[in-house]
Amino acid sequence: IGHTGMGTNGDVSEVLLNALSSLEYRGYDSAGIAIANDPLTVYKREGELSELETALQTEELEGRTGIGHTRWSTHGPPSDANAHPHTDCDQRVAVVHNGIIENYHEIREALEANGHEFDSETDTEVIPHLIEAALDQNDSPETAFRRAIDRLDGSYAVAAVFAGHDAIYATRYQSPLVLGVDRDDYYLASDVPAFLEYTDDVIYLEDGQFASIRPSGVEITDERGTSVDMPVETVSWNAEDAGKSGYDHFMLKEINEQPRSLRECLHGRPQELDGTVSIDELSEVARPDRVHFVACGTSYHASLYGARLFRERGVPATAFLASEYDVESIPIEEGTLVVGVTQSGETADTLGAIRGANRVGAETLSVTNVVGSSAARETDHAMYIRAGPEIGVAATKTFASQQVALAMLSSALTGESSGEFIDALRALPDQVQSILDSSQTRAIADEYVDADAYFFIGRGYNAPVALEGALKMKEITYKHAEGFAAGELKHGPLALVTERTPVISLLTAESSPEKMLGNVKEVESRGAPVIAITDVPELIEHHADHILPVPETHRHLTPILANVQLQLLSYWVANRLGRSIDKPRNLAKSVTVE
Ligand code: G6P
Repeated sequence: IGHTGMGTNGDVSEVLLNALSSLEYRGYDSAGIAIANDPLTVYKREGELSELETALQTEELEGRTGIGHTRWSTHGPPSDANAHPHTDCDQRVAVVHNGIIENYHEIREALEANGHEFDSETDTEVIPHLIEAALDQNDSPETAFRRAIDRLDGSYAVAAVFAGHDAIYATRYQSPLVLGVDRDDYYLASDVPAFLEYTDDVIYLEDGQFASIRPSGVEITDERGTSVDMPVETVSWNAEDAGKSGYDHFMLKEINEQPRSLRECLHGRPQELDGTVSIDELSEVARPDRVHFVACGTSYHASLYGARLFRERGVPATAFLASEYDVESIPIEEGTLVVGVTQSGETADTLGAIRGANRVGAETLSVTNVVGSSAARETDHAMYIRAGPEIGVAATKTFASQQVALAMLSSALTGESSGEFIDALRALPDQVQSILDSSQTRAIADEYVDADAYFFIGRGYNAPVALEGALKMKEITYKHAEGFAAGELKHGPLALVTERTPVISLLTAESSPEKMLGNVKEVESRGAPVIAITDVPELIEHHADHILPVPETHRHLTPILANVQLQLLSYWVANRLGRSIDKPRNLAKSVTVE
């Protein structure tokens, strides 16, 4: 959030703290502000916003131009030093940033070679140092800002203030940035709720645009510096809706955020040049002899998928329910890598399994969304899925990021990859977007909202997603739903199939489609409605009541796309039933008891 204007009676810190507290619900691990005084006023603290407020209480703060930030760690653990804003060596500029700078290693090395000293482990800190280097060459603040941004690869929303200079410079690329316009005041934020109490007139900045905000007004320019006129829109949301960006539920918002969260997860990892995957934080991890996954709930389903990928890439791998992982009865031979998959990093059952593995001396790795979480701290290595905070209790975007992270992990640790796999990974975010833009799930949900139960079937890589589809349906609709490996249907569950039990069938070209078709015919002949999720519609069109298409991709990645249709289907059924979608009864986001 940045703010500058005339109407603040000389104390911007109050506006910044209000704005940051309006974004608190998203989760964060540290917070800070910078005010464009001379010298710059910079305060930052690990922990709750109240820590920052306490630090500021004793200060006489003046100034009408400032920036603030709440950080959700992606590089480096939560700490005062890693909190934003970040500054250059001489504190001439302060910067806040959302997103990921892919090429920060090389920039940092070059800057260090020129004498720049860094205080943090963040990728962001290269930005103030790049700006400083440009200021040293007598660039104006605005030009220095633009030159620094020119050097960045990755995704970013960035805002900067300069010592003794009443202006904010900001830009975005693949990370949101909105401008709030009041009569005399201007607000810049990653999302509208930050400033909704001050104004509901907003300009949505586009990728590559720059905003220069001065007390006298705002100028928006394109990459070349040419002024552009952007429409001012009035948002009609109240504060609660604004947190959901206008969606009815956080769950739907988070489903729709997946193209962006997957881009973050992928950033810098698939290597186009040599067709490999590299995961910076795991550069020390050798190819394991075998892998044990330990996880719960949705993360267990991601683990089933991950284990299959490792096996196909030549490394024996098994997924265990963390609560059943008993190191006394499960042999952990030498060379076993125990991988804890946990979105929150705090699930007690998963931590218990990780601790057991540590006790017997196994090498441990966590795949988690939360930097500095217990799982990340207690394992030998941590890989981050970078999904951003997830508020809906039912996991959606974190599951997609876990799948993509495990697809990359299996490739990075086994050395098995191909140009085709890399291209397919990189295409995923746009393909997810195309499903979101065209999904017909809402109408199908309306038709089957009164069903007795929902069954989900799939084979091979699709089988774990069938389980996940059913779990999602159960969690948020409170209706009976079961997922099966399709071959198992005839060994029992078929007894439950009637014309009142839709069977959601994942039938894709590379996961035994002919056998799947056989399974579909079994349910069709019992009168069950068939909803097919497929990339080969021609194969199943005569046997399905509805077809939900998914684009073609590498066969290992199909379930990631298919799952998006399942998420939406559950969501719309629950929505029709008027359920408490974001907070289903009896469930918690993070379960810290065994
Ligand atoms: C809880 C949540 C589930 C989640 C599971 C594991 O039961 O309600 O949605 O899948 O915990 O959570 P984790 O944070 O370890 O991935």
